[in-house]
Amino acid sequence: MTSISLRAARFRPVSYLLALVSLAFFGCSRETPSSSGADSLRVGFSQIGAESAWRTANTESIQSEAAARGIDLVFSDAQQKQENQIRALRSFIAQDVDVIVLAPVVETGWEPVLREIQRAGIPVILSDRKVDVSDPSLYATFIGPDSVEEGRKAAQWLVDAAGGEAVIAELQGTPGSAPALARHKGFMEVIADHPGMKVVKSQSGDFTRARGKEVMEAFLKSPEGKDLTALYAHNDDMALGAIQALEEAGVQPGKDILIVSVDAVRGAFEAMVDGKLNATVECTPIIGDYVFDAAEALAAGEPVDKRIVVKGAVYEQDQAASLIDSRPY
Ligand code: AHR
Repeated sequence: MTSISLRAARFRPVSYLLALVSLAFFGCSRETPSSSGADSLRVGFSQIGAESAWRTANTESIQSEAAARGIDLVFSDAQQKQENQIRALRSFIAQDVDVIVLAPVVETGWEPVLREIQRAGIPVILSDRKVDVSDPSLYATFIGPDSVEEGRKAAQWLVDAAGGEAVIAELQGTPGSAPALARHKGFMEVIADHPGMKVVKSQSGDFTRARGKEVMEAFLKSPEGKDLTALYAHNDDMALGAIQALEEAGVQPGKDILIVSVDAVRGAFEAMVDGKLNATVECTPIIGDYVFDAAEALAAGEPVDKRIVVKGAVYEQDQAASLIDSRPY
C-alpha cells in the first residue's frame, strides 16, 4: 500500500506561465489542456499514441472519464516516442499538476524522469503498461492487465484448438514494450510443455495493422511460409493486417491457418463472425474509472493498491455473433 500526501488543488497563475515556457522549450509532443475550473484536480496524462483500435478506445475512456468527473486533464500524445513522453512528463512537473499518469511505450529508461517527478512530490500512476525500475517507490500504482497471463491464455487456446501440433508464426508488439515482452513470455511458457507446438517465425509488427500485414507477407514468402498452420498476434490490429495478407496470398485465415490474438476489439469480433479470426484474449482499454479513482485517492492523501489488475476473458468464433453488438470498444 502506498500513501502520498495531499497536493491541494489551487489556482495557479504561475503554473500556467511555467507551462507556456516549458511548452516553448520542450515543444513537440501534442499536448491538449482541458478547460475545467481552476479548483479542479489537475492530471497530466502521457499517452503512447494511436497505434491501434485498443489505444484509441483507451484514450476515449481516459478523456471521457476525466470530463465526467470535472478533472482538468492535460493530455499528451507521444506518437510512439519515449523521448516525447519524457518531455511531456517534465512539462507536467513544470505545470505543477496534482497527479501524473504514464502509459509507457517501452519498459526501460524511466528512472531519471521518475526521480524528478518524485522530487517534485507528484504521485505517478502507471496505466496499462508497467515499467522496469529498481525502486518501486517511483510510482504509486500500476493499473493494467496481467500480460503474461494473456500470453498463456492465447497459447492454451491454441494448444487445445490445434491438438498440440502447430507450426506457428508470432507477430510481436512494439519491441521493448511491456505487453510484447510479457505476451511472448507467457505464450512460450505454455507451449514449452507441448513439443508439437513450434514457433518458426517471430517478428515485431509494432502493434499496427499496416505492419502486421507487411510482416505476414514476409512470413509467407519465407521458406517456412508454406508450412505455417497457426498465427499468434500480440494484438488484434496486427492479426487483422495479417488476415488481409493471407487472403491476398490465397490462404484462408481461420481455416488453413488458426489465428489467435489479444485485445477483443470490435474489428476482431467482426473477423470472428466472418470466420477469419479464431479467438481473441480480452484486454480492456476501458480503464478510465480505475485510473481516476486512484488519482482522486492519491490527491486526497489516501492509500491505493500498488497493483490493480484488470481482468479479461477469452472469446471464440461461436460467441462472436451474439456478443458483437454489446462490445464496448
Ligand atoms: O498496451 C496494450 C496494447 O497496446 C494493446 O494490446 C495494443 O493493441 C496496444 O497498442
